[in-house]
Amino acid sequence: MTINKLENLEDVEISAFQADLITWFMKEQRELPWRKDQDPYKVWVSEIMLQQTRVDTVIPYFNRFMHKFPTVEALAEADQEEVLKAWEGLGYYSRVRNLQSAVKEVHTQYGGQVPNTLEDISSLKGVGPYTAGAILSIAYGVPEPAVDGNVMRVLSRILLIKEDIAKPATRKVFEQAVRVLISKENPSAFNQALMELGALICTPTSPSCLLCPVREHCIAFHQGAQHELPVKSKKKKQRSVKLAAAILTDIDGKVLIRKRPDDGLLASLWEFPNVEVNSNFKSERSQLQQHFKEKYGKETKINSVLGQLEHVFSHLIWNITIYKGKMLDLHDEDPGYKAVTHEELENYAFPVSHQKMWQKYLES
Ligand code: ADE
Repeated sequence: MTINKLENLEDVEISAFQADLITWFMKEQRELPWRKDQDPYKVWVSEIMLQQTRVDTVIPYFNRFMHKFPTVEALAEADQEEVLKAWEGLGYYSRVRNLQSAVKEVHTQYGGQVPNTLEDISSLKGVGPYTAGAILSIAYGVPEPAVDGNVMRVLSRILLIKEDIAKPATRKVFEQAVRVLISKENPSAFNQALMELGALICTPTSPSCLLCPVREHCIAFHQGAQHELPVKSKKKKQRSVKLAAAILTDIDGKVLIRKRPDDGLLASLWEFPNVEVNSNFKSERSQLQQHFKEKYGKETKINSVLGQLEHVFSHLIWNITIYKGKMLDLHDEDPGYKAVTHEELENYAFPVSHQKMWQKYLES
């Protein structure tokens, strides 16, 4: 079955393709902080950060993260709160919670050495086939595929593969292609070159085919079909959720924050209290007050509206109305929340939407 989808693979001049691709990469690759050495821990952290996040965004986070947690041991022993704070703003926070728990396992079970076999590395939390292949090839020179969306786009054009890249099963088709094409002498450069080509030349909407080092090998280029590939079905539209949130202060000006549950969306991050509201129901204000009464047994006074925010996740859109108010008897020892000063607030990791709420409060 799979072999039909890869029928054009037989026509590739593999050695010439590898040489053209790798020569270009050696000359044109960007200087990126995780390319300074082959430390498997650094490669690992960078690959986790680069999932769903652009290189330009990742660079400063990567540098700060390495400064704070320079080794497996440092990250294994770090306080989770501090690790989340270092990830604040990058999104997809389960990535870093899984990373830290996997790094703890490497510290205790593998003496701090990131494993170099597919079986061991794949058993670590959050290390899927892409990350396993990236670490093994880049840090250890093992010829394993590292196929992400960018690599699928590049290879769909070169080999005219018309499988839907939005389907999880499709990745295996591309992995099989890479197993055939990959340079056994330099798998690290080969895999990184495919990623770099996707980032710099073989871009989603306007590929620069005239600058492409492998255009002679590219079937889509020969057929003028580069704009029709990859085939990627549209994902479902996000669901909208209406939230009312409040920045509540006590008489000392301390602010009420609470920790989100340890699983699910934005797990373990801190937030300003909020509740999903129903616009066909009572006023938002009274739904919010009722929430505080039920959850904390506290009366609150909701004053002005600070503004509106929209935050888009991959599967969900939050439409948030932000209120400002008072809760008169805030005590730290109350369950489920903390009352903190403005300075203390800086030490807690918040979702971007809640950071924006705080900005609006400061500007009010
Ligand atoms: N995207 C995913 N991994 C990457 C890497 N190692 N370098 C640049 N871009 C990437």
